[in-house]
Amino acid sequence: MNRKKIVAGNWKMNTLYSDAIALAGNILAKTSAFKDIEKIIFPPFPFINDVAILLQSQPGFYTGAQNCSSFEKGAFTGEVSAPMLKSIGANYVLIGHSERRAYFKEDAKTLSLKIEQAFQAGLNVVYCFGEALAERKSGVHQRIVKTQLQEILSVMPQDKISDLVLAYEPVWAIGTGETATPPQAQDMHAFVRNCLVELFNKEVAEQIPILYGGSCNARNARELFNCPDVDGGLIGGASLNADEFSEIVKSF
Ligand code: 13P
Repeated sequence: MNRKKIVAGNWKMNTLYSDAIALAGNILAKTSAFKDIEKIIFPPFPFINDVAILLQSQPGFYTGAQNCSSFEKGAFTGEVSAPMLKSIGANYVLIGHSERRAYFKEDAKTLSLKIEQAFQAGLNVVYCFGEALAERKSGVHQRIVKTQLQEILSVMPQDKISDLVLAYEPVWAIGTGETATPPQAQDMHAFVRNCLVELFNKEVAEQIPILYGGSCNARNARELFNCPDVDGGLIGGASLNADEFSEIVKSF
């Protein structure tokens, strides 16, 4: 099966305006030759428009937002809606990142509303999920991940499946320098694909890209991307350096 290969950079709450534009420009220069790898950049909200202008006519490059509101519009001070993001050139939005779940208490209900808003606005979604350290240690990691998938994907509109990307990000690996080993990543990604067979069917399961995220860098990306069910990476810290990010893009 020829699934999309994707390397995505989640810049989180990092960079100021001039850094963001320079970083996007450097990533573009260093990775544009790798045309069959999809590159998605997730800058902070205020920089999305300018990064999108830089990337929009470049084949294989996309811009995304790290979050969107669960409401479409109205009196929700400080929120940013999915249609607003679409109108400034965003192609993707991250939903369900563990930092949103942990620090902003985003639960399954909120995440379903956000996904609905994103698809309605014509954005593609990268849905993030993954277990905490205690859950892995006590051996319930597959059950946790299955629940995180079921509670969101069972309400997903079937005609939007091709706009969906999944990202397995074990919480214990995010920003810790501790990466899932390739066998750990492959085991979970294969398990996720089986969940997709149960939720949808085999054909759909084969088509949805599943990215790995959590201390993925230029040194470990090749081994991870070699796993048959790992279709790329969602990169945090290492995406803030254009050289490192471009090495990851070259790791397939
Ligand atoms: P790190 O690559 O910094 O561990 O972050 C991963 C992540 O959270 C990407 O969304």
